Amino acid sequence: GNFPVITVDGPSGSGKGTICSLLARELGWNLLDSGALYRLVGLAARHHGVVLDDEDALVVLAAHLDVQFETSATQNEVTIILEGEEVTQTIRTEECGADASVIAAIGSVREALLERQRAFVSEPGLIADGRDMGTVVFPQAPLKVYLTASAEERANRRYNQLINKGVGASLQTILADIQVRDARDMNRAVAPLKPADDAITLDTTQLSIEAVLAAVLDQARHKG
Ligand code: C5P
Repeated sequence: GNFPVITVDGPSGSGKGTICSLLARELGWNLLDSGALYRLVGLAARHHGVVLDDEDALVVLAAHLDVQFETSATQNEVTIILEGEEVTQTIRTEECGADASVIAAIGSVREALLERQRAFVSEPGLIADGRDMGTVVFPQAPLKVYLTASAEERANRRYNQLINKGVGASLQTILADIQVRDARDMNRAVAPLKPADDAITLDTTQLSIEAVLAAVLDQARHKG
């Protein structure tokens, strides 16, 4: 489709997920959570007993992924169904994130997910959340945003999220996990995490969610 796309890329914990769902709600646009697709391939692999170094089997899973994203009427919540089973929360664990980042380093798996991601473009527009939205999947997007924040701040945010949920957590472990995932995502050969040449970079370390949202909406209006 020939509808506008706003790409939002950046490392985990940069606030992408929150900003993207607020943007989608504010503009009334559709949302692609591309990280969820990599997490879903990982979960499907577990379900089917496929190991993470079996590239051929992972490509088959990615190409045939049986998934539905169901958006509630209020557009605030997305329910994810994998092979008929609700997995909305299941794919959010640290294990699924780590599996996703291993799988995401395989070029043929990324290739298998490319058209599925592009098919999310629909009227009136798309907010695309990921690592390579601006560089690979939607290189023609009129507005590309790169969100970043210090690893310490991202670890703090994650720590507070878990504590608020009543889940015990260690800040040191979370920081170490974030650094491992950053290194893997930024240093891989295919579609590494980096800002597109024409992206606007926002460092959110010292910014509130409201301030980041306002800055992106401001850019969107300038481009519109
Ligand atoms: O954003 P999220 O934490 O859900 O992504 C999980 C993993 O999927 C990331 O660490 C990254 O390795 C991978 N990913 C990717 N390309 C995307 C989205 C996610 O490689 N567009």
